[in-house]
Amino acid sequence: MEMRMARRGAVALLLAATAMGTGCAPRKPEPVKTADIADGTVDPAQWGKVYPVEYDLWKKTGEPTPAGKSKYKHGYDEGEERRDKLDEFPFLALLYNGWGFGVEYREPRGHFYMITDQLEVDPGRVKAGGSCLTCKTPYAPVLQRQMGHDYFAKPYQEVLAKIPKEHQTLGVACIDCHNNRDMSLKISRDFTLGKALAKLGVDEAKLTQQEKRTLVCAQCHVTYSIPKDEKMKSTDVFFPWDESKWGHITIEDIIRKLRSNPPSGEWTQGVTGFKVAFIRHPEFELFSNNSVHWQAGVACSDCHMPYTKVGSQKVSDHRITSPLKNDLRACQQCHAESPEWLRGQVYAIQDRTMSQFIRAGYATATVAKLFEMANREQAAGKAIDKTLYEQAKDHYLEAFYRVVFIGAENSVGFHNPTEALRVLGDASTHAGKAEGLLRQALAKAGVTVPVTVDLELSKYVNNRGTKKLMFKPEHEIKDPLAAR
Ligand code: HEC
Ligand code: HEC
Ligand code: HEC
Ligand code: HEC
Repeated sequence: MEMRMARRGAVALLLAATAMGTGCAPRKPEPVKTADIADGTVDPAQWGKVYPVEYDLWKKTGEPTPAGKSKYKHGYDEGEERRDKLDEFPFLALLYNGWGFGVEYREPRGHFYMITDQLEVDPGRVKAGGSCLTCKTPYAPVLQRQMGHDYFAKPYQEVLAKIPKEHQTLGVACIDCHNNRDMSLKISRDFTLGKALAKLGVDEAKLTQQEKRTLVCAQCHVTYSIPKDEKMKSTDVFFPWDESKWGHITIEDIIRKLRSNPPSGEWTQGVTGFKVAFIRHPEFELFSNNSVHWQAGVACSDCHMPYTKVGSQKVSDHRITSPLKNDLRACQQCHAESPEWLRGQVYAIQDRTMSQFIRAGYATATVAKLFEMANREQAAGKAIDKTLYEQAKDHYLEAFYRVVFIGAENSVGFHNPTEALRVLGDASTHAGKAEGLLRQALAKAGVTVPVTVDLELSKYVNNRGTKKLMFKPEHEIKDPLAAR
């Protein structure tokens, strides 16, 4: 208790000092300005002539990260092979079978690669068209304004070709986050985040600096839905936050919106035949939903862009990456504990999340296979009880979206440990209910269901897509708490 109090006091003091730019913590960096940047300049090299230190750090997002510093995130570690989530979590290959994410789903790496990675990934992943460029190119806002509806609907390559040749592989750039005149932070994606903030009733003009240090990231690290017309052409990119409040965007709100909006059904799940939606990288949603750090006023940039000294200059580290790969220096701006202690805390949180994620994932995959069986039996003439089937489907979808949500969130629970565990607990409960109902329906129809359902995983993890990707068992992540 004593220690806890002491720690809390230390954190509060450091935090206050950082926030105020006074006291024992050094002042926040001041940009050293040497020239003007013309309005509309996209080329980071031009900005780099004025701000060379930030530019050099930004370019470093193209370098591999040091190996052995993060337990679960190996997007691009030195000397290691890039990991695919489908190898790490084979049950995802089963659940996502039927579309691009079930073919190739790499762990993220540095910002430098965002478009290169789209060009290298299985073409099934960019089927949605120009929409896929929304959280990738700094040209997205301009293209959307010029092309209107066509921006979303036209094929990916056609929209990409409208970007000046030399910038066709340029990822997030200075202009995405900064106003060129005074380097203040700005939201450049009015057509997505701007609209979504309005839905939450947030007045952009009144945002605090600390909120902007999170929202520049929330332009992309959020879940978006790509609604389809009858011909399965994309019509928009929107954030399913219609029923949410600032600081309280819940998985329940997101699921309700996606399930009640038929155009959000982006693909058909191979195993069940259900038309379903998808949830992408919801870092902002999970973090801002009442997490301890959000409540303490901490921003994404505090942990992912810590102040750093380069020569005599103090700047924000524009080499954005995992804080673990930066030896938890970011955390030490506020926490007095040692890096080892902090790393231990991160791993403890991640192990618990990972364990629950894997359990919920397999429980949901098992239900998917039971649906496959029920559908097959029905096609063969067996009478499957409609009410039981529909009830099971309802619980299954609730479980499925929760698994997708945590699986797509990239911190393995760290951004909001208690919420991540709550969501996964609910996923397992829903999957359990769905399984019970389906077994009942199958028994009623005279079908014998084995106690252990064969997931036939090798069918889904092997020969994936045009590259015929094969399962890499050495990358599979096993339940870290299984033996306890
Ligand atoms: C224009 C969209 C966009 C913006 C803005 C953006 N990101 Fe990203 N971020 C991405 C994409 C896309 C990836 C994955 C790139 C890949 O794997 O090719 C990524 C990857 C990352 C990674 C993984 C890096 C690694 O080394 O593996 C981190 C951490 C990250 N972003 C944090 C942030 C933070 C913090 C901010 C705000 C300061 C931010 N991002 C702003 C799109 C964006
Ligand atoms: C209190 C510190 C903290 C805050 C605030 C924070 N993060 Fe993180 N973030 C982490 C840690 C720790 C990890 C786990 C890294 C690991 O396992 O290597 C992580 C992981 C990530 C990753 C995956 C990194 C990778 O290497 O694949 C992304 C992307 C990311 N965060 C983005 C964000 C965004 C966007 C925000 C704000 C909405 C945010 N983070 C807020 C600490 C933080
Ligand atoms: C993903 C968003 C993002 C991108 C891309 C980005 N910055 Fe920043 N930048 C920030 C944030 C956040 C801060 C901290 C601002 C604050 O709190 O006042 C910052 C701060 C700065 C500052 C003020 C001094 C400092 O280091 O804190 C300069 C100068 C700067 N950035 C230059 C650049 C340049 C040049 C580029 C392109 C090569 C760039 N930035 C790209 C988010 C970004
Ligand atoms: C800008 C300041 C700031 C930064 C940066 C920061 N934290 Fe914190 N952290 C806090 C505050 C404030 C609290 C709440 C203090 C409390 O109640 O004990 C907290 C709480 C925590 C807790 C306890 C959470 C809980 O649920 O009780 C852990 C663990 C933690 N931080 C780890 C980290 C790690 C790891 C990093 C770096 C990746 C980090 N923090 C970065 C300010 C910060």
